[in-house]
Amino acid sequence: MASILVLNGPNLNLLGTRQPEVYGSVTLAMVEEACVEHAKKLGLDVACLQSNHEGALIDAIHEAKGQHQGIILNAGAYTHTSIALMDALISVEIPAVEVHLSNIHAREPFRHTSYISKVALGQICGFGAQGYLLALDALAARLNEAPAA
Ligand code: DQA
Repeated sequence: MASILVLNGPNLNLLGTRQPEVYGSVTLAMVEEACVEHAKKLGLDVACLQSNHEGALIDAIHEAKGQHQGIILNAGAYTHTSIALMDALISVEIPAVEVHLSNIHAREPFRHTSYISKVALGQICGFGAQGYLLALDALAARLNEAPAA
């Protein structure tokens, strides 16, 4: 069974209490639980990880090689700054979908740039927690198109 890594970056551990008017009232635990449930319906396994540290996120991407066939990444504010995370994603050659709860293009100009989108299959933003489930659908479709050799 294919496995997907759901990786969340800085401050996303505070979901539910952090600016609920922007990010909603759903906690990270609820998002992760919803991912596990939705993945089951798609015939996928899911592993979830959150870190506030750029290096730990990079390590997780490196360790995904050979373990996971897809990555869903909400890199939080590192989205807009981290060439290192972008390089890590290119290096492991695992299909990745970028997710943001908020519509980053409708917010401050500094959030309009994403280094992740340069190497991701695509970006889903503005749909709150549902974005993670849409990303799982997208990865499931992609993996069905190109089953592992
Ligand atoms: C975010 C958007 C980022 O700009 C912000 O820094 C976050 C959350 C989102 O999910 O909407 O931490 O990635």
